[in-house]
Amino acid sequence: MYRNRTCGELRIADINQEVTLSGWVHKIRKMGGMTFIDLRDRYGITQLSFNQEVNHDLAEQANKLGREWVIRVVGKVQERSSKNSNIATGDIEIIASEIKVLNKSKNPPFTIETDTDGGDDLRMKYRYLDLRRDVVRKNLELRHKMTFETRRYLDERNFMEVETPMLIASTPEGARDFVVPSRMNQGEFYALPQSPQLFKQLLMVSGFDRYFQIVKCFRDEDLRADRQPEFTQIDCEMSFVDQEDVINTFEGLTKHLFKTLKGIEIEGDFPRMSYADAMKYYGSDKPDIRFEMKFVEIKDLTEGANFVVFDNAEYVGAICVEGCASYTRKQMDELTNFVKRPQVGAKGLIYVRYNEDETIKSSVDKFFSEEVLKTWAERCNAKPGDLILVMAGETVETQEQLCELRLEMGNQLGLRDKNDFKCLWVVDFPLLEKDDELNRFFAKHHPFTSPKAEDIDLLDTNPAAVRANAYDMIINGVEIGGGSIRIHDSELQKKMFSVLGFSDENAQEQFGFLMDAFQYGAPPHGGIAFGLDRFVSIFAGLSSIRDCIAFPKNNSGRDVMIDAPATIAQEQLDELGIALVKKEN
Ligand code: AMO
Repeated sequence: MYRNRTCGELRIADINQEVTLSGWVHKIRKMGGMTFIDLRDRYGITQLSFNQEVNHDLAEQANKLGREWVIRVVGKVQERSSKNSNIATGDIEIIASEIKVLNKSKNPPFTIETDTDGGDDLRMKYRYLDLRRDVVRKNLELRHKMTFETRRYLDERNFMEVETPMLIASTPEGARDFVVPSRMNQGEFYALPQSPQLFKQLLMVSGFDRYFQIVKCFRDEDLRADRQPEFTQIDCEMSFVDQEDVINTFEGLTKHLFKTLKGIEIEGDFPRMSYADAMKYYGSDKPDIRFEMKFVEIKDLTEGANFVVFDNAEYVGAICVEGCASYTRKQMDELTNFVKRPQVGAKGLIYVRYNEDETIKSSVDKFFSEEVLKTWAERCNAKPGDLILVMAGETVETQEQLCELRLEMGNQLGLRDKNDFKCLWVVDFPLLEKDDELNRFFAKHHPFTSPKAEDIDLLDTNPAAVRANAYDMIINGVEIGGGSIRIHDSELQKKMFSVLGFSDENAQEQFGFLMDAFQYGAPPHGGIAFGLDRFVSIFAGLSSIRDCIAFPKNNSGRDVMIDAPATIAQEQLDELGIALVKKEN
């Protein structure tokens, strides 16, 4: 027998019990004639105690153990004289009577502690050791609970989990595909799914009615803290529903997860915001509504002062930062540098201090009188003591820059508490997005998203104004999920393909199977997909989704532990009929 109890479960009530534990040597401390070992397993840490005077040989054996050795120990539970309230088993220790070394260990390359001395790269190379750390394991436990509670919630509502294939042809989610060559069909390639979008719609045609799948998706896109090349979706689809039904069902799932995993009851409906308002007031389609600081447009109040920066600007927008009129010159310079960073890309920043004594000072005093600046302050609802920050330029670009500044101010003022959760639905997205360079429209969501019934006529006259039956769920400024009500009518789908510039043959070639399927009684349907990694990260308060993925990729898309991607043998290439082109350097 290796063990009859775990390292996390023994308490005062277990005193005098004879137990057997197995685990890893976490720490060894020698004090006088005593040796203490912290024995660790997945469930916790238990202190083992060895007394040189009582059992000399055993204590000597304990002294020879090394960090991370795997041992089995037999002993008696005893109350500790000096208790440790930091661990659950801190009231007891084991007076060991027998140790067996089950395996030795090399000295680990970093300490297996919450605050480890291992850098990112090292921890990723030895991820199996990193996963022994409490903090990392807890994230994966949370992830397990989230998938478990998701399955429970959906199963209770008649959702059925169906697996869809991984080796498919390209799906139109907008990123690049990862492709897989086919030995049996040389010269042809599978694509890994960017999502199961088309399959879940086909399952609705099959009458499955309520589908879900916790599923890997693959997208070859530039990586960020909230993006991995392979990630997991909670993917769902429902028949005979409108937008309201989908929103209600998945708001319910979100509330269920908050309640069961975080003990947080969210009262009332999640607020909703149109895409247009999200852009206008927050410069983002995923606004962080934990704090206000909404954008205020002041272009009309800046006219006639011969200030070219504003005169030439399509948009002049301001945010009012409460209580920051006293920001020093240095702080203002830092903020200006912040907006000038390439990631933000602004040319500059203008400020107006509405001082406590009600005087107004700005960086544009040469052009604007105190009287005019007061009108800005009034429009911004500023109070004495507030700081007004102004940016100007092309509308969308400036709104996006102002969004970055707003979030930075939120950080500086501590308004983005990771334990404060604010959920939001963003709705009424535009159906299409114009690429001015290519002079053509792309689907904002994907080509199967339906236009709002009242906007269908605009498809011919003003496609850019057509709104979609699409919705995103945002938590704390992170897009957690998104979905739409789909087109289920093959004529409307054809029309959509034509607006997107697909020829009939092209549409037939890529999506013929879907259009064919739609001719056999497709029910009205719609769905949503949540990014599981992002959901877990938000719940765990992580700054990168990597920390809740057991074996993640780094920012170059590499798995540094198994060293992937890697070259393959010439024979493999030959078998696949693939010749590599040498890159000129
Ligand atoms: P969408 O493309 O919005 O929709 O994806 C849904 C959710 O998946 C998450 N996500 C990602 N997470 C980590 N890394 C990535 N690279 C990544 N890309 C997306 C986000 C996002 O909200 N088929 C549609 C859904 C539908 O219409 O039902 C789809 O995939 O949290």
